[in-house]
Amino acid sequence: MRSAHWYGGADRNGYIHRAWMRRGLPGHAFDGRPHIAIANTASAFTPCNAHLGEVAASVANGVYEAGGIPLELPVLSLGETNVRPTAMLWRNLAAMAAEEMFRANPIDGLVLLGGCDKTIPSLLMAAASVDLPAVVVPGGPMLTGTFRGVPLGCGTDVWRLSEEVRAGTLSQAQFSASESSMIRSRGHCNTMGTASTMAFMAEALGMTVPGMAGTPAPDSRLLEGAHASGRLAVELVARDRTPSRIMTRASFLNAVVALAAIGGSTNAVVHLLAVAGRLGVRLSLDDFDRTGSGVPLLVDLQPAGRHLMEDLHRAGGFLAVLREVRDLLDPAPITVTGAPLTEYLDEAAIWDEEVIRPRNRPLLDDAGIAVLRGNLAPDGAVIKPAAASPSLLRHRGRAVVFDSVEDVRARLNDPALDVDESSVLVLRGCGPRGYPGMPEVANLPLPPKLLAKGVRDMVRVCDGRMSGTAYGTVVLHVAPEAAAGGPLALVREGDPIVLDVEARRIDVDVPDAELLARKPVQQGFASPVRGWQRLYIDHVTQADTGCDLDFLIGSSGHAVDRESH
Ligand code: FES
Ligand code: MG
Repeated sequence: MRSAHWYGGADRNGYIHRAWMRRGLPGHAFDGRPHIAIANTASAFTPCNAHLGEVAASVANGVYEAGGIPLELPVLSLGETNVRPTAMLWRNLAAMAAEEMFRANPIDGLVLLGGCDKTIPSLLMAAASVDLPAVVVPGGPMLTGTFRGVPLGCGTDVWRLSEEVRAGTLSQAQFSASESSMIRSRGHCNTMGTASTMAFMAEALGMTVPGMAGTPAPDSRLLEGAHASGRLAVELVARDRTPSRIMTRASFLNAVVALAAIGGSTNAVVHLLAVAGRLGVRLSLDDFDRTGSGVPLLVDLQPAGRHLMEDLHRAGGFLAVLREVRDLLDPAPITVTGAPLTEYLDEAAIWDEEVIRPRNRPLLDDAGIAVLRGNLAPDGAVIKPAAASPSLLRHRGRAVVFDSVEDVRARLNDPALDVDESSVLVLRGCGPRGYPGMPEVANLPLPPKLLAKGVRDMVRVCDGRMSGTAYGTVVLHVAPEAAAGGPLALVREGDPIVLDVEARRIDVDVPDAELLARKPVQQGFASPVRGWQRLYIDHVTQADTGCDLDFLIGSSGHAVDRESH
């Protein structure tokens, strides 16, 4: 046991380590049984994870029952709706801080409690880097709220309701009243946004008790699963079943299939690449295109569809979805239980075919993410054709260029803006370095004068990300970003932009010689002199490799460091 290096000795140091930890723990707590850290992202400032204290108590019961010692470890938490300028700026800080504390402390195994968008990715990255036995307990989605008889989808419906206020069909007072209807219970967003997606990705990778992801936060079965996960953590340590044995290239490719079948968030691309990077697993942007293409969309959830996470759970949940695409999954990779994920599919069944479509009646035949390249994105860009307008997948239009989100705010609403429905809206300065932190702004709003004409979608190109709860014909994650010297910085107003999704191309139709002669547009972001932002801007990698810090790629393992006294 790793913890025995702290507690095992009869000397002064062993005394110190044990004595300060006693506080109610009996002597036999230090007799060599595994010490399991419950890494908890609960925080009052991360409302989606605020309930995880209760979940941690159930995990602790399971750990005790199996003969281990559960110890709660609060870790850096990121609340998507609160932290500015964007939670993504701190995903790597959360991952780095968690990794360091996992390694520095007398810990033998881990239970990872997450929920809100960045919390599961950061914990997976940390666990991958220390490679200590670990199991993820997803905190679960909120229950469906209803307002005036209609279900409300988190995020997605905020836009709809605010439009109704602008149109005069909903009063300001009613709009305010809808707030507490939307957020009906504990838990994370109940659409197929990033939080739901990443819980399913953790399960597809084999890192949860199979069948757990998607269990609503207030559901009794969440606590039952948490208890089982605590028990399992003790077994993981006994068998030395580490993340690197579970998260192999084959399990990442299974996750890519699952991502397409559930119609998951494009943010999963960046997060999965980052986790793979920590493990030294070969996974590239092109794997998403290759492996995801031809996978049918089977889940009818908002934002693209109709239902919400509670419906998906009732309809059979994630395993019922996977059962439909079983032939596309590699049966080899094991889960935390030691058994392959595909072994859990026999019992799975669809109970509502409106929510989970059977394979022969998919919502779309091909839900994969397309990876584009061209002189605008030499290292790649991403588009979700399933969320785009089919008529725009092959398009040529004049660029209308915005250098920042402030620039969008200042000019987009101007009736004099030179734009029509065939224009291509280009937004740069929103990549990992440029913003910094790569915010979810790629699906920039359409000019009001075009909305008034009934235009509902336009081609947009951006080096930022898009919320998992958004859609449109949006080319995002353009790499390299403008602020890192990417060609997006060379585009000028009026340049013809050519999108051809079938050919997997995104180009600006300007001769190379002319492009190269241009001076890149200065992004105008003053680089901070100190702190995390300084470190982040100097070391963050581009979207095509997961936006991790360059010096965090790879694993440092869990060797026990030298004594503190
Ligand atoms: Fe936390 Fe959406 S704001 S999951
Ligand atoms: Mg989000």
